[in-house]
Amino acid sequence: MKKRVLVTREDLPGRGLERLSAAAELVAWPGSGKPGPAELAALAPGASAVLALGNDAVDAALLDAAGPSLRVVALASMGHDNVDVAAAAERGVVATHTPGVLAETTADLTFALILAARRRLGAAGARLAGGGWDLFRMRDYLGLDIHGATLGLVGYGQIGRAVARRAQGFGMRVLHHDPYAGEDSLSTAVGWESLLAESDIVSLHVPLTDETRHLVSERELAAMKPTSTLVSTSRGGVVDEDALLRAVREGRIHSAGLDVYEREPMGAALSPLVAEENIVTLPHIGSATESTRAAMVDLAVDNILDVLAERPARTALPGTPAVPGGSVPTTEASA
Ligand code: DGY
Repeated sequence: MKKRVLVTREDLPGRGLERLSAAAELVAWPGSGKPGPAELAALAPGASAVLALGNDAVDAALLDAAGPSLRVVALASMGHDNVDVAAAAERGVVATHTPGVLAETTADLTFALILAARRRLGAAGARLAGGGWDLFRMRDYLGLDIHGATLGLVGYGQIGRAVARRAQGFGMRVLHHDPYAGEDSLSTAVGWESLLAESDIVSLHVPLTDETRHLVSERELAAMKPTSTLVSTSRGGVVDEDALLRAVREGRIHSAGLDVYEREPMGAALSPLVAEENIVTLPHIGSATESTRAAMVDLAVDNILDVLAERPARTALPGTPAVPGGSVPTTEASA
């Protein structure tokens, strides 16, 4: 008899779900939006696996709703702050995510934000779109150079390194701060205070954990240059958004580029950020290319198929076992 797999969205890019349905009975949330906890719990009983996204709550209630049949929860997401890792480990459930496959695509978007924020692309493009461009003027939309600037990477994992590689083409000096990573030929490891003080662009590439929540707040923003730009493609909670808004409005930093927010999706909390001319905002699209999103689903499916076939998961989350009930592996902390 085929094992039952709960899929929290039925419309996913690529062919991953087709492969999964050849091996398992899929129970997919049929709605077009996001299922709530009660809706997922109602579909979960008897599931051997769950394929979820980074914004589905994978907590003790969902794990218990699935019951003792549950062996693996696979995220089609690199970020995993939505998973209660301790609850999964206690129940011997494998939890996986998708490192590796989205690093290059997310690094591309990081550069798009750097360029847009420092060269004021949003405001300039909006003027043209609004029919307000009447004349070439020497002082219109003066921005700040990216080439030759100092880029400070907070977190030097796969995505941070992919950004560092791109920075070489812009002739940038690259610094990084990451207690878990050493130095290489692309970037110099520096202390937290030096990174804040010396960087023209501070770009965040750390997961959201208790340690990184509001890592960039009032004090850190005050330590940055008035000409600097803060960029985040990691997780919203890493930045104190109220403090950021104040810093940009008061000209204490030049600009910001954000793809991720403390409270997603769009709502009252987001509106002031979106309205601010010197903050470029995108709706969480760091990994949004056809091939990368398909690769994320594929890796999640591979993790499920492996665990259901009694093989270790390929990319288990730190703090959960790679096989159901097994010992706990550790992996790098940076995104
Ligand atoms: C990720 O993979 O973490 C992206 O933010 C999508 O969830």
